[in-house]
Amino acid sequence: MDFTEFCNQVIDRTDLVKLVSRYCTLKRSGSRYFACCPFHGERTPSLSISPETKLFYCFGCHKGGNAITFLRDIENIDSIDAIKLLAEEAGLEMPELSGSKAPKKVDKDHQARLYALLKDAAKHYNENLKSASAVEANKYIKKRNIPDNIITRFGIGYSIDRFEMVNYLQKKGYSYKEMKDAGLADKKLSANEKEYYYDVFHERLMFPIIDQFNQVVGFGGRVLVKTDMAKYRNTSGTQLFDKSKIIYGLNFLKKNKREGKPIKFIIMCEGYMDVIALHKAGFDTAVASMGTALTPQQARMLKNYCENVVISYDGDSAGQKATLRGLDILSSYGLNVKVAALPEGKDPDEVINEFGPDGYKKCLAESLTLTEFKLKNIKKDYDLSDKDGRAKYAKAAVECISKLEDPVAMEEYLKVVAAETGYEMSVLRSQAGMNVKEDKPAEVKEELSELKPEEAFLLSSFIKGKEYVNAADMALIKKTDFTSAVIDSVTESRMKGLKDVSALLYSELSEEMSKKIAALLEKDFAEKENAEYYGICVYDLMLDELKKEIKKATEMYNKAKSEEEKSECLAEIAALNKKMKELKTNGGFKNR
Ligand code: UTP
Ligand code: MN
Repeated sequence: MDFTEFCNQVIDRTDLVKLVSRYCTLKRSGSRYFACCPFHGERTPSLSISPETKLFYCFGCHKGGNAITFLRDIENIDSIDAIKLLAEEAGLEMPELSGSKAPKKVDKDHQARLYALLKDAAKHYNENLKSASAVEANKYIKKRNIPDNIITRFGIGYSIDRFEMVNYLQKKGYSYKEMKDAGLADKKLSANEKEYYYDVFHERLMFPIIDQFNQVVGFGGRVLVKTDMAKYRNTSGTQLFDKSKIIYGLNFLKKNKREGKPIKFIIMCEGYMDVIALHKAGFDTAVASMGTALTPQQARMLKNYCENVVISYDGDSAGQKATLRGLDILSSYGLNVKVAALPEGKDPDEVINEFGPDGYKKCLAESLTLTEFKLKNIKKDYDLSDKDGRAKYAKAAVECISKLEDPVAMEEYLKVVAAETGYEMSVLRSQAGMNVKEDKPAEVKEELSELKPEEAFLLSSFIKGKEYVNAADMALIKKTDFTSAVIDSVTESRMKGLKDVSALLYSELSEEMSKKIAALLEKDFAEKENAEYYGICVYDLMLDELKKEIKKATEMYNKAKSEEEKSECLAEIAALNKKMKELKTNGGFKNR
């Protein structure tokens, strides 16, 4: 079967509204639905979903597409995996696919082998803990207070040595190349120049990393004894593992959600042991990024489960620049970010071990908002008992506060700074105003300024499919790459019988053009959006057009050499003048 044809079937059989509603709350508005866009941060809905066209589009971030692209992007998976999941749900059997866009089958088979390999490896590492060679590993587990049920829950294991796992997998029928591709083994030359493969995690305590589909995608391995090797080694650079798209422990969030367990907040920590300690203490919404600053993909994934995130990094690392940038990313994706008040230099695992679950609960209760946390950090750099220090602190603090979107919150934080520094609110407010940047990128507005307001109105009415629009009037709009592409695209979609073409436009045209369309459709024509105003615009544009033509004809007349040419020009000018007179007496659109 042809790939594109099958995709169309999948899209057709999928209830887009139902699919999107698993990730966001939908509100009905006429024939369409709106939601707060899960792809960027916002508090007022600008994601529009049309059950008729089976397309979605966000007026804020300009993301748009169909059920397949929605699932692909929200779950960070391949298109083909999204198609598979949707097909399964729709009861469609995946056929053998052909066509230019069909995925290469070999690759998928290889990938499936790697998933199976990693799963087998994880099971076997776990079994290894029962082996006589795992004495040290078990001692360590005991020292770190990890009970049996938690070992099972996280599938913790042990890599005995360089060859045990490699041999095991080989007996199971996996090739060395597959072990290498899965990130488990690597190649070396022995003393007598013979090539051999070894387990890169040898002698480490193993933490399988499981994605939201319950597949093992990689491992983290911790050394048991102090060495000069890195404390943790993580899978890197494989087809299946991209640490910027993975969150350790996400599979548990998904499980909670599936079982209908409410998730009040997500606890974001730095590493494996923290997640494990927190789950052990009953905080089963703890997850971790793997020692890197948080990424937009991770923000989106978290937002699928809960909007409240409590950052639980040890105090020293939480204030670091890279970390703060990560926290800003979360916040810009619309998550409410708080920072747990952990004692200086302590991670959650240490807090639980020293003060128990209640000790940690106290840290949660005392968490700061992200801005409070940032202000506290900024304050460390200044001496507030000194006048100069207070001035510098006020400036830095206000700069941080002025980045907030919520004016009420801004006011509240300014009050705090006023109290700390003794500056008047009015001074701080004006300082904050100086820092505020223009909220709408001027460039989009400028791009549209190539159109007259009348032209913009015609084009927007045409896209919206207003009943008083006459497609022929679009000829009055100045021809540019943008207007031509939009007019062609709308005309074509209308011919196919699509009523709502705006979403389609976005998915068909370039990103650049999509932005312009969004700006155009967002233009507020207020009460003017009616037939009368449309007529006036058409009238004005026709008049402009005639004036231009008359001017051109007059120039021609002046340049004309022969009498014959001159009289031709005069005739044309007369005809144009007549047209103009007619237009003026008939007025606007009514008599056209
Ligand atoms: P930490 O050094 O804070 O370790 O690194 P930890 O989580 O407290 O580990 P324990 O308690 O000593 O066992 C935080 C996280 O950063 C990543 C790991 O994900 C780790 O959990 N990391 C750290 C690495 O990837 N490699 C390293 O060498 C160190
Ligand atoms: Mn630790």
